[in-house]
Amino acid sequence: MKLRESGMPEEAYWETLLDVPLILDRLGINRELQDVVELGSGYGTFTLPVAKRISGVLTTFDIEPAMVERTRQRAAQAGVSNVIYVVDDVFANGFGGEPASKDACLLFNILHCEQPVRLLAEAARVVRPAGFVCIIHWRYDSATPRGPSMEIRPRPEHVIEWAQQTKVLDLAGPMVDLPPWHYGFRFRRQAAP
Ligand SMILES: C[S@@+](CC[C@H](N)C(=O)[O-])C[C@H]1O[C@@H](n2cnc3c(N)ncnc32)[C@H](O)[C@@H]1O
Repeated sequence: MKLRESGMPEEAYWETLLDVPLILDRLGINRELQDVVELGSGYGTFTLPVAKRISGVLTTFDIEPAMVERTRQRAAQAGVSNVIYVVDDVFANGFGGEPASKDACLLFNILHCEQPVRLLAEAARVVRPAGFVCIIHWRYDSATPRGPSMEIRPRPEHVIEWAQQTKVLDLAGPMVDLPPWHYGFRFRRQAAP
């Protein structure tokens, strides 16, 4: 199932709305991370810069074949080769693969979805103990130029509550300001008991 209100505006416009280097710096996306998984490649706005920063492989999922194809095309043009592309429904099928096999899972601009706790739990499943689930979302502010409708847009405190409900994710630091329009969080996967 395509997650609600997860369609994209035109690519060039979308990419004026995000300061990608700042976002990745502030979320600690760097060479200390090896293998990473991303839900929703979209146009590859984050996929390419993340792949360039990490030391392993980025696996990116999107339910829309055209999004994955656009991301693949941009990566080829940029000479980025450490990406695995998957067209699949993560809501229905999860991320597949081995549990606890990734250093981080990226849920960017998607937590206004149906059943966010279920999605966070699936993200936590694929992340190794002490690995990270990183989230960004549109500010809870109707003045943002895009973003899901306010009725379903998560407030930061909702994101924290949902992560706590998984019982395996701990807040790894304060909320991160990601100007101009976003905020973010890093949650750490608890060590196995
Ligand atoms: C709002 S966009 C965000 C894309 C990217 N994360 C970004 O911030 O630029 C959400 C993306 O998730 C994809 N998507 C929606 N439902 C999905 C699902 N069930 N499984 C995988 N991808 C999904 C959409 O096709 C879309 O490309």
